[in-house]
Amino acid sequence: MTTTENDTSTESLTELADRVSETHKKLYGQAPEFLVAAPGRVNLIGEHIDYNDGFVLPMAIERYIVMAASKPTDTDEAQSQYHSISMDSSARLAATAQPGSDPSAPGWACYVQGVLAGFHQSGRPTPTLNVSFDSTVPLGGGLSSSAALEVATATLLEAATSTTLDMREKALICQKAEHDYAGVPCGIMDQFSSVFGKDGELMLLDCRSQEITAVPFRSDDITLLITNSNVKHELNGGEYAERRSQCDSALQKIGKSTWRDISMDDVNAARDQLTDLEFKRARHVVGEIQRTRQAAEAISAGRWDEVGELMYASHDSLSDDFEVSCEELDLLVNLAREVNSEGGVIGSRMTGGGFGGCTVTLVKRDSADALIEALTSRYKAETGVEPSCFTSPPRPRRS
Ligand code: ADP
Ligand code: GAL
Repeated sequence: MTTTENDTSTESLTELADRVSETHKKLYGQAPEFLVAAPGRVNLIGEHIDYNDGFVLPMAIERYIVMAASKPTDTDEAQSQYHSISMDSSARLAATAQPGSDPSAPGWACYVQGVLAGFHQSGRPTPTLNVSFDSTVPLGGGLSSSAALEVATATLLEAATSTTLDMREKALICQKAEHDYAGVPCGIMDQFSSVFGKDGELMLLDCRSQEITAVPFRSDDITLLITNSNVKHELNGGEYAERRSQCDSALQKIGKSTWRDISMDDVNAARDQLTDLEFKRARHVVGEIQRTRQAAEAISAGRWDEVGELMYASHDSLSDDFEVSCEELDLLVNLAREVNSEGGVIGSRMTGGGFGGCTVTLVKRDSADALIEALTSRYKAETGVEPSCFTSPPRPRRS
């Protein structure tokens, strides 16, 4: 287990943008000509089903990456320079570089490189730029800091070339960057959330048709609490791809071309053809597709208790059948469960890829502070790690 940075950022988008601009001036001796931002996201329900033709229900959060850029004074310079302020690390990048061609480049450079390559391959120009960026999206916390980095890079290239990409094409260029340059065969949820997401509005994304239905988060007295476990269990780094191929082989054995045509009866009928692992993976996928559709309907109808039950069921399925949770995430969800509806908790589950990162909890606004206190003290006592919590949509500021 590794502990991740203890994230307690309260910096607003404007404050972040000002700080990145100031740092940019100091770093390059130039004021930024372009300033762009892309948000992270939280997924309320619909986990590990974006690459299985399912539905997901994410929301952009008030955590952003901001990029500032200017044109270098040396007009012969062919490579752009990108500087991550949070990591205090720089890379010189060319749009023509192949994946992995520069082993000395910092780990984050592949996400930017992939987007530059995507622009280049689509026949679009990629001007040479001096770039600085920083982020309030916790890194590696399951809130899509990497997708935000990709989408911010794409938005910067749009600004610098005075072009506007079709939003779907933009998200797909970013997803391809993650596949080809970061080597992660992710689905479309993160990049679509960062491109299309609106703070305070959930989006029901049909990952088969790529259609989006807005699901307004219409409640004055309920909020989403995001709790970062601040741990990461990198087992072999290949768990995500492994889950994907287990799902693919289960689908093939069930004999259908898409999970959308499969019912739980089909999964049970195919029990003997599937390995135990494939059976459990299939049960998660089919159940989670149903839960996500049902949750979107329940939110629209204001049936919050039902949403809460679906969130707990989603967590149990991810923990028991899909096996992407970990002790710390289970602990946070169980602590929320113990506080339960008497303490204002409606539902809770892990969010994102898993093996660490964050939980998302639906909680009554006026119970959020007490819940944060309870989760923090009990989680810290049991794990020795301090969690970090924030709400989204944010709670009204108290004077
Ligand atoms: P998540 O997207 O859930 O945060 P990932 O492991 O997919 O987790 O992506 C995290 C990676 O994204 C980091 O390890 C880093 O390489 C890159 N990254 C994201 N934000 C930044 C940043 N501000 N500076 C440098 N790298 C970043
Ligand atoms: C993320 C991945 C997404 C999605 C999610 C699990 O890490 O980038 O595409 O599959 O895991 O729901």
